[in-house]
Amino acid sequence: MVKEEIEGLIESGRARVGVIGLGYVGLPLAVEFARRGLRATGFEVDSAKAASVNRGESYIGDVPAAALKEAVSSERLRATTDFGELAGCDCIVICVPTPLRKTKEPDISYILAAAGEIRRRLRRGQLVVLESTTYPGTTDEVLLPMFEEQGLKLDEDFLLAFSPERVDPGNPQFRTDNIPKVVGGCTDDSTAAAAALYGRVVREVHAVSSARVAEAAKLLENTFRAVNIGMANEMARLCYHLGIDTWEVIRAAATKPFGFMAFYPGPGLGGHCIPLDPHYLSWKARQHGFESRFIGLAEEVNSRMPEHVVQLVAEGLNEERKAVNGSRVLVLGVAYKRDIADVRESPALSIIDRLRAKGAHVSYHDPFIARLNFEGEHTASAGEPLESVELTDDVLKGADCCVIVTDHSAVDYKRLCELSKLIVDTRNALGRDLRRAASASIIKL
Ligand SMILES: NC(=O)c1ccc[n+]([C@@H]2O[C@H](COP(=O)([O-])OP(=O)(O)OC[C@H]3O[C@@H](n4cnc5c(N)ncnc54)[C@H](O)[C@@H]3O)[C@@H](O)[C@H]2O)c1
Repeated sequence: MVKEEIEGLIESGRARVGVIGLGYVGLPLAVEFARRGLRATGFEVDSAKAASVNRGESYIGDVPAAALKEAVSSERLRATTDFGELAGCDCIVICVPTPLRKTKEPDISYILAAAGEIRRRLRRGQLVVLESTTYPGTTDEVLLPMFEEQGLKLDEDFLLAFSPERVDPGNPQFRTDNIPKVVGGCTDDSTAAAAALYGRVVREVHAVSSARVAEAAKLLENTFRAVNIGMANEMARLCYHLGIDTWEVIRAAATKPFGFMAFYPGPGLGGHCIPLDPHYLSWKARQHGFESRFIGLAEEVNSRMPEHVVQLVAEGLNEERKAVNGSRVLVLGVAYKRDIADVRESPALSIIDRLRAKGAHVSYHDPFIARLNFEGEHTASAGEPLESVELTDDVLKGADCCVIVTDHSAVDYKRLCELSKLIVDTRNALGRDLRRAASASIIKL
């Protein structure tokens, strides 16, 4: 039986694991497999990334260089662009991107490309696991028929499962090994073998009855965040009108020990997951004639936050008898969240673009992002790239307005309050004491 063969290989440490896509998800996972004694091969289309892995040089913040070096030098991990080597892998995990098309429909072309490479080499005795976030049904409806086209049979010849990734970049508390992993196979054997694989690298595996359940669970998790952040953002807009501090309201509500979970407002959603994943669910819902209204509403509220931030800048400048047009605006933090080097879907792009379209002279400072490119929808202002500026006294004093878009911990907020004229704080980065002592005018989201 294929299941027993694969489980035996995993248990004995002889299983060879292939990880397709060595990004934020795939690289930490491949390193973890190697750390736990399996031989891992990373498959990349980006030859620069493959070469970097093979030199033991990490390009992902959450993967310490020492761990990568150790995995590579012990010959438990190597990366390749040669997909022919997939034939030698017993377990193959797909960790490729799942973006949206311009129409906000799922773009599973990367999954299809990876699955196409597997299909060409699929052989008896392999377990394939999809990790990329996607709509319920992708594993069963798309991957399974592709693999069975080769004449091989599920369970008899190969196994197929879905297991969503939950990595939280920049979170030092939760890493690959201590985040419970949900696993759902296309068959019970597939679930069991995939659970055995992840059981090697994570402390807790939660098996579910199907791949669809696992796919839906991931989308529920991220939709839950998008909807609750939408609620917090709506609350922030309301509190602004009421003259109440939203964060104080949320902190007070969060003292309730049951039935409440704190979510905080911000300048808009960012990253590769929360702004995109709910669309995978609403798209699937529409296929079944169902309109997912919470998702639509959260998207509407969250996507208006950058515009709201620009409005706050305009109001602050107006108080000083200045116009946005011609003002110098310094954006602090452009990564989509604190202390990481990732600008994907960052609201900073939209905020800067909107400010520049109104004639502001925008500069930015981000200790993690040296250069910012504007593409696609963020080019209303011609999309000239920007480079991070040093936070010198002159830069701070010269800005008509500083906007805290991302609250990186390396920024000296006390100095910011002392030297700036006007600050728009979208993250509650300035505590009450700083605000009280500040010479700058401060507007909170
Ligand atoms: N980043 C996160 O925080 C996070 C968290 C949970 C889930 N996810 C999901 O995990 C998946 C991967 O996300 P990510 O953030 O790691 O993306 P990423 O862009 O960081 O990495 C994907 C990698 O796959 C490579 N790639 C693309 N097509 C390929 C192919 N055909 N063969 C081999 N390599 C290929 C790319 O070059 C890139 O290095 C997505 O579905 C995402 O939604 C991401």
